Amino acid sequence: MEKVIIFDTTLRDGEQAAGTTLNKEEKLEIARQLEKLGVDVIEAGFPVSSPGDFDAVKLISRQLKEPVVCALARANSKDIDKAWEAVKQARSPRIHVFISASQIQMAHQLHKSPEEVLQLASSMVAYAKRYVHDVEFSPMDASRADPVFVYRICEQAIKSGATTINIPDTVGYAMPEEFGGFISDICENVPSIGRAIISVHCHNDLGLAVANSLAAVNAGARQVECTINGIGERAGNASLEEIVMSITTRQDLYKVETGIKTEQIYRASRLVSEITGFPVQPNKAIVGVNAFRHQSGIHQDGVIKMPKTYEIIEPQKVGVPSSSLVLGKLSGRHAFKERLAELGFTLSEEDFSRAFAAFKELADKKRIVTDRDIESLVAEEKRTIVEVYHLDRLQVTCGAGIPTAAVVLSGPEGEKLADAALGTGPVDAVYKAINRIVKVPNSLTEFTVKSVTEGIDAMGEVLIRVESEGISYTGRGADTDIITASAKAYMNALNRLLAERNSKGE
Ligand code: KIV
Ligand code: ZN
Repeated sequence: MEKVIIFDTTLRDGEQAAGTTLNKEEKLEIARQLEKLGVDVIEAGFPVSSPGDFDAVKLISRQLKEPVVCALARANSKDIDKAWEAVKQARSPRIHVFISASQIQMAHQLHKSPEEVLQLASSMVAYAKRYVHDVEFSPMDASRADPVFVYRICEQAIKSGATTINIPDTVGYAMPEEFGGFISDICENVPSIGRAIISVHCHNDLGLAVANSLAAVNAGARQVECTINGIGERAGNASLEEIVMSITTRQDLYKVETGIKTEQIYRASRLVSEITGFPVQPNKAIVGVNAFRHQSGIHQDGVIKMPKTYEIIEPQKVGVPSSSLVLGKLSGRHAFKERLAELGFTLSEEDFSRAFAAFKELADKKRIVTDRDIESLVAEEKRTIVEVYHLDRLQVTCGAGIPTAAVVLSGPEGEKLADAALGTGPVDAVYKAINRIVKVPNSLTEFTVKSVTEGIDAMGEVLIRVESEGISYTGRGADTDIITASAKAYMNALNRLLAERNSKGE
């Protein structure tokens, strides 16, 4: 069976949309999971866009063994030099060169004529080719461009050495039959197309990114660009898990395969959501919490008798854990370790010991510790690694009086720092007290609280974003006490901010 190359752009198009900066360790953690997932190509970033992104691409290039590592570049020599500098240590490096191809973008954004764009595309693909054999070219906004111009620019790019031709539906404008037809037309009208792989890159503005990508596969595309959970610019990109599971589930129709280890999908989804701070909607196909839940009595009856009556995918096939083991306060290290392995976590001895201690503490407060609790708790333990300031204790009074908070933090040298403040509410008071100690000007731009599981004893999970000097930082915290969870989330965001400043030597 022919193979469709899965090109994951979570760390480039996805990160672009996250409204937040992922640091290089976070990007590496996602990249490692993408490698476990078996993606063929990882677009690790856009190196010229920031020193942080450059470092992240470089780190990922050095650390990963299996996938092709790709860096994005506009069609100019400076971008391409930076892209090469960042990926050159990868085992299989790729440079991805793009330039606008629609009349509207060429005229109003690039201020260049079609002939100038053609010339740039051709010379810059050739420039990238001097560095590396594997060069991808994208005529941006191809689905709104003059098709004849797209044929010409693709032909030129292939003649200059492009080995992959990527057709982007940049603004999610195309319809499936139309987009599939466009790919067939490219096959017919680009004389050298047989020398390149056809790729597609679809956005989801009309909710059709996956449908358009699949139509393109039917028409001959053999690379699909996509992201975990479909994150990306605006309404996002085509979702990796939906594309892969469509191709896998309906092999009778598509007659192609992917190299994805589908059992790693759920873990990848959780990790990306956790690190980017983008929650997954409950009814999201494949990875939403309701994707394998049956509510109606008739459906439940059917599934009990024979799962296939209402399930087209076995949950285990995408790595959704089957919670046969209930963990509680009597569970030991062994049971906890096994559960972690089933959930896809491999922790160092040190991380494991910390996670186990946190599990025991939680189990004392909650009768049953669920998988979501464990995921939240492990994430919480991992978060503490980059701390400059650590939340030691807090005490809050609220209700009838004036909300007041007292906090104790451990400072960079382990010293204890205490302060107190009044606020409009308990969380405001806690944040003000923390600000009096940490003293980093910032503004809170987002604050969300949700419960990790059902029940009155559920853990609360808080997600916040703070902005400082135009950069947004995400913070998360989880605890059975939501004021403590809010304080942990704030400390997490502040610690990221401080780590970023430290890494810049500020
Ligand atoms: O959406 C788009 O056109 C892109 C290109 C850089 C491929 O992201
Ligand atoms: Zn895009």
